[in-house]
Amino acid sequence: MLKEVPYTIRLTLEEWMGFWRMGAGVVGMVLLAGCGPAVPKVHVVYDPGTVEFYRQDVQPIFQANCYRCHGGMNRKGEYSMQTSAALVRGGKHGVAVVAGDPAASLLVRLIRHEPVVTGVAPEPGPMPNKKKKLSDADIAVVERWVKAGAVLPVDGAKP
Ligand code: HEC
Repeated sequence: MLKEVPYTIRLTLEEWMGFWRMGAGVVGMVLLAGCGPAVPKVHVVYDPGTVEFYRQDVQPIFQANCYRCHGGMNRKGEYSMQTSAALVRGGKHGVAVVAGDPAASLLVRLIRHEPVVTGVAPEPGPMPNKKKKLSDADIAVVERWVKAGAVLPVDGAKP
C-alpha cells in the first residue's frame, strides 16, 4: 500500500523563474569574468613605499619599456634590470637607483632625459634608448617609487 509522501516539493512558477534568473546570473558573471576587457582591472592605491606599489605600478613600466634591452640576457650598457640587486647596482656608470633620492638616481635622470655627468665616457644617453620618452605620468610613478625608498621584492629574481 502506498504511503503518502510526507511532503511534496511544489514550486510555483514564481519560484522556478527565481531559480532560472539566479542561474542566468551566475552564467553571466562567469562569462563576464572570462572576457577580460569587459571588466575593468581594479587598480589598488598602494603606498609608494611598498613592494605592492612596485609590482602593480612600477614594474609594468619597466617591463614595457626597458626589459627588451635590460632584462633576461640583455644587458645594454652592462646594465641588467633582471634582479633587484642588479637593478639598483647599475651598469658601467655606477649605481642606478639611490633610494630616497630621485635627483641622484641615474635611472631617473635618464628617463627624464636630463644630461648626466658621471665622469666615465661616453656618458649614457636618454632612456629608453632611441625610443619615445616615457609619459609624464609614468616618469612620476618611477620618481615617487624612488623617493619612497625604491622598495623591491627581496627575493630579487625578475623583480
Ligand atoms: C632599445 C634598447 C634600450 C631600451 C629599450 C632601454 N635601454 Fe637603457 N641602455 C641601452 C643602451 C644601449 C645603454 C648604454 C648606452 C648608453 O648609456 O647610452 C643603456 C644604458 C642604460 C643605463 C646606464 C647604465 C650604465 O651604467 O651605463 C640605465 C640606467 C638605463 N639604460 C636604464 C634604462 C631604463 C630605465 C629603461 C626603460 C625606461 C631603458 N634603459 C630602456 C639601451 C636601452
